[in-house]
Amino acid sequence: MARLNRSRLTDLVARERAAYAEAHPRSAAAFAAGQDSLFGGVPMTWMTKWSGGFPLYLDRASGNRISDIDGHTYVDFALGDTGAMAGHSPEATVVAIKRRIDDLGGFTTMLPSEDAAWVGAELTRRFGLPLWSFALTATDANRWALRLARLTTGRSKVLAFSYCYHGSVDETFVVMGPDGHTASRPGNVGPPVDPSLTTRVAEFNDLASVERALAHGDVAVVITEPALTNIGIVLPEPGFLEGLRELCTRYGSLLLIDETHTFSAGPGGMTKDRGLEPDILVIGKSIAGGIPIGTYGITGDLAERVRAHPEADLVDVGGVGGTLAGNAVSMAAARATLGEVLTDEAFVRMVELATTFTEGVRTTLDGRDVPWTISQLGARSEYRFARPAPVNGTQSAAAGDDDLDEYLHLYTLNRGILMTPFHNMALMCPSTVPADVDLHTEVFGQAVDELYG
Ligand SMILES: Cc1ncc(COP(=O)(O)O)c(C=O)c1O
Repeated sequence: MARLNRSRLTDLVARERAAYAEAHPRSAAAFAAGQDSLFGGVPMTWMTKWSGGFPLYLDRASGNRISDIDGHTYVDFALGDTGAMAGHSPEATVVAIKRRIDDLGGFTTMLPSEDAAWVGAELTRRFGLPLWSFALTATDANRWALRLARLTTGRSKVLAFSYCYHGSVDETFVVMGPDGHTASRPGNVGPPVDPSLTTRVAEFNDLASVERALAHGDVAVVITEPALTNIGIVLPEPGFLEGLRELCTRYGSLLLIDETHTFSAGPGGMTKDRGLEPDILVIGKSIAGGIPIGTYGITGDLAERVRAHPEADLVDVGGVGGTLAGNAVSMAAARATLGEVLTDEAFVRMVELATTFTEGVRTTLDGRDVPWTISQLGARSEYRFARPAPVNGTQSAAAGDDDLDEYLHLYTLNRGILMTPFHNMALMCPSTVPADVDLHTEVFGQAVDELYG
C-alpha cells in the first residue's frame, strides 16, 4: 500500500498556495477590503472555508463554468455545494424568473401563485408524498417539519445520526460520545440547550443503536439523509434503510428523509430509487435552480394528525412558516427547473458522467495502491482518505485530513477545476460534458503521482 510522505505533502501544499496567491491578486485584495465591513471579511462566514487563505471572488457563472475576478475560468464540480445542481443560471429558469419579475412583477406578496400547485404535483410525482409546503431553505423546512413531528406524536425528542448535517437545525448538532450517549458536535455555536436534552444519537448503518434509542419511547422523529453526504459520502448498507423504516413504525416514531443532497441519486432522489416510505421528506437548494427554496412533503395521514390539533397555529405565529416563503419567484423558478432542467433525461446523462468520473479516480487509486476510496451517489462522487470506505459518520470524520483536502483543492483549482471546498465532492449538472470529467481524471492522476510518486 502506498505510504503518505507528510513532509512532501507540506512542500506541495506550500507550492500550490504560492501559485494560487500569485494567480489571484484581485481576489486577495477583495478579501482584504472586506475585512472592514464584513464579519469574517465575507458576506457569510462559511465563505472563508477556502484553501489557500482567501476565497475566489465570483465574476460570472454559466452552466458548469465559473469565472473569477482575476479572469480565470473553471470547470465547476462544486456547483454551490448542490445549490447549482441545475447548472448556473439555466436558461429555462432565467426565462421564468424574468417573466415573473419583469413582465408580471411581484417578488414577494404573501399571495399564492398558480405555479405552486404545479410544483407540488411534480414533487409528488417524483417523491410520492402528496402534500407540500415551502420554505426558503432546507434548514427551515427541516425545522418546521420537526415541529410537526413533535406536535403529532406528543414526544419531545429527535433521533439524529452522529456527524449528520441538516442545516443549522439545533437538534441535529450531535455526535456519539465515547459512552454511546448524545454529545454536542465540536464547534457547536451557542446551542439553546445541551443537545442531549433534545436528541438521541445513533450511528448510521447500525440498526441496533437506532433501536436502543427508539426503545426509550420518547423519539418523535428520526431525521436522516438516506446516505450521509456531509461527512463524505457514507452509503447505506443493504437492509439499513428498510430496517430504519421498520423500527420507526414499530416504536411509533416518524421518519424524516432529507433529500437535499441525495437528490443526486435520480429525479426522485433515493426515495424513489430505493422505494423508501418516509412520513416527511425535505429537500431544498437545487430544485429552484439556485433561487432560495426549501420544502417539506408529508403523508395524508400526517396531515390528518396535524389537523387533529386545531389549537396549533399554522397560519400565524405558531412557529411554522415565514414571510417570504413560498414567494412567486421561488415558485416560478422551481417550476421551470423541475419541468425543464433537472429532468429525468438530464439525470441519465449526469449519472453516466459521475460513473466515468468515479472510474477515473478509482483507476488512479488502484494503480498506485493509494488507501483512499471513492463513493458515488448518482450524479455525485466523492473521494475519502480511508479504505475501506467508512460505514458511519464517526468513522468518516476520523478519516478527515485537512492537509490532503487543501492539497487536492488547490492542485485542482490551480489547473482549472473547482471541487467543493467543504469536502472532495464532485457533482455533475446538465451542462457537464465528458471532456470536463476527463480533465479531472488527468489532473487528479497528476496530483496523486506527485504525492505518492
Ligand atoms: C442534507 C442537508 N439538509 C439541509 C441542508 C441545509 O440547506 P440550507 O443551507 O440551504 O438551509 C443541507 C446543507 O448543506 C444539507 O446538506
